[in-house]
Amino acid sequence: MSPKKGLFADTKSAPRFRLDEPQTEVYVGDCREVLAGLPEESIDLVFADPPFNWNVKYADWKDDMRREDYLDFTYQWLDACIRVLAPHGALWVNIPDDWAAEIVVHLKSRGLHMVNWCIWHFRFGQCRDSNFIVSKAHVLYFAKDRKRRIWNPDAILVPSDRASLYNDKRTRKTRRPGLRVPLDVWYGPYLGRIQGTNKERRPGHRNQIPETYMSRVISACSNEGDLVLDPFLGSGTTCTVARALNRRSVGIEFSEPTAESAFERIKNGAIRIDAEFRRELRQLATEVFLEIYRGEYSEDDVVICDELNRRYIEACRNRMPGASEEDLNLALFAERKSGRLRHKLKPRRPIKHARYIEASEAAKEEAKRKLGKTLDQIMCNPTYKAVFDEIAQKQAPGERRYRLRKAALSIRKRGKSHSRPSKD
Ligand SMILES: C[S@@+](CC[C@H](N)C(=O)[O-])C[C@H]1O[C@@H](n2cnc3c(N)ncnc32)[C@H](O)[C@@H]1O
Repeated sequence: MSPKKGLFADTKSAPRFRLDEPQTEVYVGDCREVLAGLPEESIDLVFADPPFNWNVKYADWKDDMRREDYLDFTYQWLDACIRVLAPHGALWVNIPDDWAAEIVVHLKSRGLHMVNWCIWHFRFGQCRDSNFIVSKAHVLYFAKDRKRRIWNPDAILVPSDRASLYNDKRTRKTRRPGLRVPLDVWYGPYLGRIQGTNKERRPGHRNQIPETYMSRVISACSNEGDLVLDPFLGSGTTCTVARALNRRSVGIEFSEPTAESAFERIKNGAIRIDAEFRRELRQLATEVFLEIYRGEYSEDDVVICDELNRRYIEACRNRMPGASEEDLNLALFAERKSGRLRHKLKPRRPIKHARYIEASEAAKEEAKRKLGKTLDQIMCNPTYKAVFDEIAQKQAPGERRYRLRKAALSIRKRGKSHSRPSKD
């Protein structure tokens, strides 16, 4: 455990596990008791995924109360969460049909505002014949103050159907061209239930929430450095994702072995957050590229021609401020390789590379050796690209940078041989 100071100056109980940067604390115990010891209004965001009283075999918690007892328990932990929630804070609850209505009524009775009643739709429900197969959970989004709540729509945008499916040009003129805030029914890539073969799966845990779901909640309703709390930590999804998104977090778990395993996961870090980010980058790269260069230029040209690249990067950054040039260029190459960017190029006069093909090949090999990077990585990163240019210029003084880069990429395409001039 870190010797640094904890998240709260004085609490009745101490966290069992702790990490720094960003501060992350895991308490072991009944959340009602632990919450009672935390300072009032100290939490920016609460996410709760309680036991559903479905007689699930949790490590220690008995999940088969009488209905009235379960409701009492529910109202107690809800009230304890409301007490620690900051006035600008949001409270999210993941809950099945059985209890959603009672929770909504209770939270409204406590003066909270229902911002959204979302549905998490999954397609791996338990098969049965007796009635319809359950394929959803309710994701209730409440705030203490509707107007003061933290809400970051730009952090959770998804491609709009109009733009991505129907290529509706009007969507390019909106404030967030081609993108929109997600619908209140959640499903899609990495939003299914976490099954045995899923890379995120933590054996021995029940009802694990997908990282992508959690990242949507945390990104939308908190800022970097904010404090997120999960009173039913389970496998540790909330704290794991909070750390990946640079939020401080507190998790409470009744079972000691479960908390220990959650802490292991928290230390190991998130699996999808980076992958999800890459997927978003690739989606963005596709949309921007097709929007401004479809049929006009190849993906290679957009990466290696300074003028074309400047326009591409600028257009991407209008939608995803802060995305790096390297990430955006690599995303475009990745999409090219996947074959999703199929578009017919207008015929052009071929460039004859024969004169400087050897210079380019030598520069390519030297730059790769010096930087320890692949040619694609070199062409996508402005600093590495400059190293290649410098070496290539020495080999072919006065030759245009674009031509030398293009020749290097055409060698990549044709494989090793440089005895034959490129046709492109
Ligand atoms: C549905 S699971 C949470 C799953 C979690 N969202 C995840 O993604 O892994 C509920 C967890 O709450 C724990 N739990 C049950 N009652 C509790 C209580 N009173 N206080 C703290 N934790 C409790 C259970 O041991 C279980 O691990």
